[in-house]
Amino acid sequence: PGLRPLIAGNWKMFHGGGTGLALAIDCTQIAQRVPHVDLVIAPPYTVLAACSHECEGKRVALAAQNIHSKDKGAFTGEVSGPMLVESGCTWAIIGHSERRQLFGETDASVAEKTAAALQFGLLPIVCVGETLAEREAGETLAVVGRQVRAFLDIILAGAGTDKAVAIAYEPVWAIGTGKNAGPAEAEEVHAAIRKWLTEKSAELAKRTRILYGGSVKPDNAKALLAEPNVDGALIGGASLDATSFGAIAEAA
Ligand code: G3H
Repeated sequence: PGLRPLIAGNWKMFHGGGTGLALAIDCTQIAQRVPHVDLVIAPPYTVLAACSHECEGKRVALAAQNIHSKDKGAFTGEVSGPMLVESGCTWAIIGHSERRQLFGETDASVAEKTAAALQFGLLPIVCVGETLAEREAGETLAVVGRQVRAFLDIILAGAGTDKAVAIAYEPVWAIGTGKNAGPAEAEEVHAAIRKWLTEKSAELAKRTRILYGGSVKPDNAKALLAEPNVDGALIGGASLDATSFGAIAEAA
């Protein structure tokens, strides 16, 4: 519905140190070429503060790849919302399928983390998506619907009337596999997500950006982003290189 495109790069566990910093600087150059796009990068925790320093005032926002639901405590290895804000983040990716599959995150923990992000002043990018087995069993909309309904009330309560949160639809079978959902396949799920949002609040539905993720590349980005309910993209592999990330941003 005519929202500003949001293009987010999830670096996952790549590009710490100098390479991360160099890529962040390259992203500030990309930002100059795409004034109509909101650019977000999610580097590893260890380089967040340094990247934030480089990106300050240059139209590249920082996202965390995860968040703990508490503000502090004896939780070895975890990082809290206030710490992420201190490190320069304005966004937090929550419930990425890798976290759901490899680190035991559930609809319940994703809901808790979404609430925490909003409470501590971070905008969530909440991830949902079905596995290949679920798609083949015809369960895509049931699974994604369950995942989305688990946090809709929290977004409605926590985001007030002005915060623009994002939901990323990432079919698990399309992540890092080179197989992307076709534009029509993506749009079908995005339109369903918009409908569930609308049922909660028309106002929320109008300002929530629904991103597609899963093997987005420069050559398929334009067609995906042209769909009416695809408001941006969450990019893994292709965000690790400034040329491909820049080309995707320019396609938005
Ligand atoms: O968060 C990003 C997604 O997992 C997509 O990763 O672009 O490497 O398929 P990918």
